[in-house]
Amino acid sequence: MKQDMIVILDLGSTENTAIARQIRDLGVYSEIHPHDITPEELGRLENVKGIILNGGENRVVDGAAVDIDPALYQCGHPMMAIDHPTAKCQKILSVLPERELLKEFVFDICKAQANWNMKNFIEDQVELIRKQVGDRKVLLALSGGVDSSVVAAMLIKAIGQQLVCVHVNHGLMRKNESESVIEVFKNQLHANLIYVDATDRFLGKLEGVADPEQKRKIIGGEFIRVFEEEARKLEGIDFLGQGTIYPDIIESGTKTAKMVKSHHNVGGLPEDLKFELVEPLKQLFKDEVRACGVELGLPESMVYRQPFPGPGLGVRCLGAITRDRLEAVRESDAILREEFEKAGLDKKVWQYFTVVPDFKSVGVKNNARCFDYMVIIRAINTVDAMSATVERVDWDVLGRITDRILAEVGNVCRVCYDMSPKPPATIEFE
Ligand code: XMP
Repeated sequence: MKQDMIVILDLGSTENTAIARQIRDLGVYSEIHPHDITPEELGRLENVKGIILNGGENRVVDGAAVDIDPALYQCGHPMMAIDHPTAKCQKILSVLPERELLKEFVFDICKAQANWNMKNFIEDQVELIRKQVGDRKVLLALSGGVDSSVVAAMLIKAIGQQLVCVHVNHGLMRKNESESVIEVFKNQLHANLIYVDATDRFLGKLEGVADPEQKRKIIGGEFIRVFEEEARKLEGIDFLGQGTIYPDIIESGTKTAKMVKSHHNVGGLPEDLKFELVEPLKQLFKDEVRACGVELGLPESMVYRQPFPGPGLGVRCLGAITRDRLEAVRESDAILREEFEKAGLDKKVWQYFTVVPDFKSVGVKNNARCFDYMVIIRAINTVDAMSATVERVDWDVLGRITDRILAEVGNVCRVCYDMSPKPPATIEFE
């Protein structure tokens, strides 16, 4: 192993991630593990230089305070206990220079080296993946999103042709998205990639379905069925690669933290398709995942792309999806992205997209009355997607985008800009 590690044992503090990040900021790798880790499990972690016991407000679970196995005290590593104050005395204790304390513990007491960087992280993960997988095979659903793309690049580096990627095009991808997955992974990285164009199948199932929740269920359920069918055609696969990242684990609830929401990646696969998971990013925060992707040689456009919902353009082609409106969403979205990039807004704005409602409005084209669709542009900024503010896009930029959409996208005679913050409006329309 390349990197020294400080282990944080989760004794119910909500500050675990903040402390892990602070230690990583000091240049030392840090992982959070549950309080009930056994001495054997701890012993299997390599290059552990010290342990932090981090207690806090969630320490009491079901009426009893959680604690570590006393045998861990004999593990021989330096230990530091932090018991986070309750709200009552937080004010007084929060002035303690925690960073200085951590620095002293990490460097002076544990003698850890500041050798945490992406290059070393990748080398360590490659070694761990090879150890876990041996000469067996891993299956990965490669959507083209940041997390699955970075996992794919990492697994290709570690096990090459023992990785089988399946890219399901549900017909709701953005313009050129599936093409770029094929270009990067098949042509450049020479991945073993199975491409499934399931457009007709998805659009067939979605025909006439207007309810947003129903649409989401159909898209998610169908995705699993297509992936399962592909998995059954393959032989000798023991592992499933997953783009789980650290916030996914937190959101699913740690042993002490309260459940926020259940996490689902390719959950929902049938019981008889049993795989062991390979999750090489599960200790990384989103910005670290992106840095890892860049280090692995993925294009910036793939690594720094804006969030895109799993159901894709399906939730932006409002109401019952029709092919002509889906095309209008896809083409107008491509124009918006092109013009935002030209104006330098792609680096500034958190999320931007177009939607096409399922009604028409009256217009005039070529001196004659027309009855055509409307494109709505949405551009928002947010930190955590829980609330959002509207980007005040320059009027001239909006003018250019509008002109292009009206000239280049068929069946559209009107363009609007959504001025609604979240709340009350959600970011997506459905
Ligand atoms: P809302 O519309 O709830 O969106 O304000 C918040 C963020 O979540 C994204 N989003 C989704 N992502 N599957 C996803 O993977 C979904 O079904 C989904 N719905 C919304 C949305 O794009 C925004 O970034």
